[in-house]
Amino acid sequence: MSTSWYAQNLMPLLALTDAERAHELTFALLRAAKPLLSAVVQVVGPPQLPVTALGLQFANPLGLAAGLDKQAEALEMWPILGFGFTEIGTITPQPQVGNPRPRLFRSVPLGAIVNRMGFNSHGAEVVATRLPVRGQRSTPIGVNVGKNKDTANADAISDYVAAIVRLRNYADYLVINVSSPNTPELRSLQSPEFLHGLVRQCCVAAQDVPLLVKVAPDFAAGELEATVIAAVDAGAAGIVACNTTLTRPQIADAVLQQSGGLSGTPLHQLAVQTVQRVHSAVGARVPIIGVGGVASADDAWRMVLAGATLVQLYSSLIFKGPGLIRPIINELKLRVALDFGGDWHAAVGAASTR
Ligand SMILES: Cc1cc2nc3c(=O)[nH]c(=O)nc-3n(C[C@H](O)[C@H](O)[C@H](O)COP(=O)(O)O)c2cc1C
Repeated sequence: MSTSWYAQNLMPLLALTDAERAHELTFALLRAAKPLLSAVVQVVGPPQLPVTALGLQFANPLGLAAGLDKQAEALEMWPILGFGFTEIGTITPQPQVGNPRPRLFRSVPLGAIVNRMGFNSHGAEVVATRLPVRGQRSTPIGVNVGKNKDTANADAISDYVAAIVRLRNYADYLVINVSSPNTPELRSLQSPEFLHGLVRQCCVAAQDVPLLVKVAPDFAAGELEATVIAAVDAGAAGIVACNTTLTRPQIADAVLQQSGGLSGTPLHQLAVQTVQRVHSAVGARVPIIGVGGVASADDAWRMVLAGATLVQLYSSLIFKGPGLIRPIINELKLRVALDFGGDWHAAVGAASTR
């Protein structure tokens, strides 16, 4: 399915539907198309741009960001579409329904989404039953965990630890999400003092599974750096930068007036800056997963040059469709071959050393 066919035929239909209903419909369509897609992919083969990071082998460095397959309901689909890895979640220890609907809003002209889902989760127990054990799947799976809404911040550590203990056997890497804007006060867990203790205990619970921290893009000068340094000092194996933003561009668009986290094209510049800042602070010590407004090979490459070893996307998949994935990977392959002699790790962060 080409991106132009998707944008001209399917997206206008989906745009007429309530955003969350459209999401559910797309999921159903993808599952129905799976036998056909699997057959095609066996002929074409998965896109290969091998990258080693976090002690794992990635067939290619482009992954599905957290939030799209929160409940691990379509795990087999994502490698078929070409993704080199999949991050599921956010999963809370106990099931919870999230915020009332409507809670998901799309602006097609801006390529932007505002969401205030609020961690709707089937809970760690149920999601665990859907996950194949490590080593029994084609591409790495990241498991992103959070705390329940009813758990006070003072008790947050026990929530993260409970989710990790239940899910660690199924995770190639774990992510603690302390940066969703839609759980009250969650972002205050990013304070360096609290985060240090949280990460230390989560690393113990994670045992041999690399544990990453997902950060927000909305930090004052110096604060982001202190946060990621505290996380890495405490044992974090990497940083996911970044989550959705509470800031809004100065554009007249009704969707931007909705409360919640903004993602997609208007987030991209801020996300690249966030990756750059994280890279300057801890890039020599741990890898970064860059995410935010990646909708083309140019965007993905910008993330890599800013310091991302791996790249994820979510919003652009909604606007451009699954035909987006393979051309991005093929173009990245070309660029790393031409500009860096095929050495992926030489490209990572090159913008800061050039
Ligand atoms: C509807 C929606 C739900 C999301 N849910 C989660 C989530 O549960 N956990 C999380 O860490 N990030 C979540 N995200 C954030 C994405 O993983 C990503 O960080 C952000 O959308 C920026 O990437 P994008 O511009 O490519 O969408 C969500 C994003 C959207 C649009």
